[in-house]
Amino acid sequence: MTVVVLLGAPGAGKGTQAPRIAAHLGVPVLASGDLLRAAVAAGTSLGREADRYMSRGQLVPDDTIVRVFLERLGRPDASAGAVLDGFPRTRVQAEALDVALAGLGRRVDLAIYIDVPIEDLVRRMAGRRICAANGHVYNLVSNPPRVADTCDLDGSELAQRADDEEATVRARMAEQVPPLLEVVEHYRRSGVLRTIDGRRPIADVGRDTIEVLEAETGPDA
Ligand code: AP5
Repeated sequence: MTVVVLLGAPGAGKGTQAPRIAAHLGVPVLASGDLLRAAVAAGTSLGREADRYMSRGQLVPDDTIVRVFLERLGRPDASAGAVLDGFPRTRVQAEALDVALAGLGRRVDLAIYIDVPIEDLVRRMAGRRICAANGHVYNLVSNPPRVADTCDLDGSELAQRADDEEATVRARMAEQVPPLLEVVEHYRRSGVLRTIDGRRPIADVGRDTIEVLEAETGPDA
């Protein structure tokens, strides 16, 4: 089982890089934001609760997200490991993950922190577009689709995420960066943290990420 945690402020590029890492390792991406958005779209009680926080740029309460995320991590498709995108996001979540993995005789193998200054991120989020069918990520400036408003991979329509409006983005940064830095510190202390400069082009960040992965888990992982 190989567990890789991807850390970064909102918009740092976790969702962009996660599929490459997962393909390299042959494990799924488990993205907390995708789990929550699916619950919102399905109108479940979890979705109704999560929506109240997400629409304001706030974190969903730890006990809710820990329960939902650890249940997802326990499903059979993650038995060989997973790339965790968006979880853990607070020290409480990181400690809950440690306890759950310890129960399986495992630990977080690697935490990759994609570091980008906040000013760059607010600008990036304004240009983000997501495909309706599968959540593929584009950017009008740095990673545009070949055909306007259309996903290159599945042809579905591209849309702006509800929480990418500038005021909500700024609220997300103010609320979420301080606890993120505590999580970064948690993994620094446990010796598994590697930091990548996320200001460079997507392909360069991707190359660095795979290099870190190979150095820590081996080329045949
Ligand atoms: P979530 O969906 O996880 O959002 P996020 O962490 O805010 O991260 P994003 O998806 O916004 O950004 P990203 O880092 O994936 O960047 P991306 O690759 O898309 O969470 C949404 C909400 O759910 C939270 O606000 C919270 O309310 C709740 N939630 C989720 N998890 C939770 C948890 N554990 N606890 C509590 N609440 C939780 O890239 C962004 C843009 O930049 C794209 O347009 C992309 O094309 C572009 N880009 C990417 N890399 C580069 C680059 N190197 N150069 C230029 N452009 C780039």
